[in-house]
Amino acid sequence: MNKINDMLTKAKVLALSGLMLWGFSSTASAAVDGKAVFDRSCSVCHSITPPPKSAPPILPISARYHQRYSSRAEGIKQMADFIKAPSKEKVLADQQAITRFGLMPAIPLSAEELAAVSAWVWDQYSGGQWGPGKGQGRGTGQGGCYQQ
Ligand code: HEC
Repeated sequence: MNKINDMLTKAKVLALSGLMLWGFSSTASAAVDGKAVFDRSCSVCHSITPPPKSAPPILPISARYHQRYSSRAEGIKQMADFIKAPSKEKVLADQQAITRFGLMPAIPLSAEELAAVSAWVWDQYSGGQWGPGKGQGRGTGQGGCYQQ
């Protein structure tokens, strides 16, 4: 009798953890994590900030896309298009990068992964030192202005 109860409990625990695992993996596939795609498929060549590995770092690239496209959706779309099939004509960030590093190879990703990783790259830039003329020492420092 005890043994049967024991087995039942074990079966319940197994069923429960099975459910939890299933729940976890189904959310993971519903929303592709752009950072995970980056780590897996891009980080061999791209660092996020300088110095570069074997490709231009992501932050300056992201900044260039923000300069070129005012709409996030459009920027992400163009970036995904480049990643899927890079070409000299499409290069936006830095034509010299091709001379220095060669043209980026096409990265085989699903449509969801392309969208997620492009959105992630786009979101890396949030103004600051990679932008055009931002954060370049506008402060007056020292305070004291309001003291008499
Ligand atoms: C084998 C190395 C390599 C891998 C892997 C790689 N890249 Fe690149 N990537 C490059 C090089 C080299 C350049 C610069 C030359 C060029 O623009 O083609 C570049 C340029 C870019 C650009 C700038 C395009 C432009 O308009 O100027 C973006 C955006 C980019 N990569 C995103 C990615 C993303 C996202 C991934 C992963 C899904 C990735 N790259 C994987 C080598 C790589």
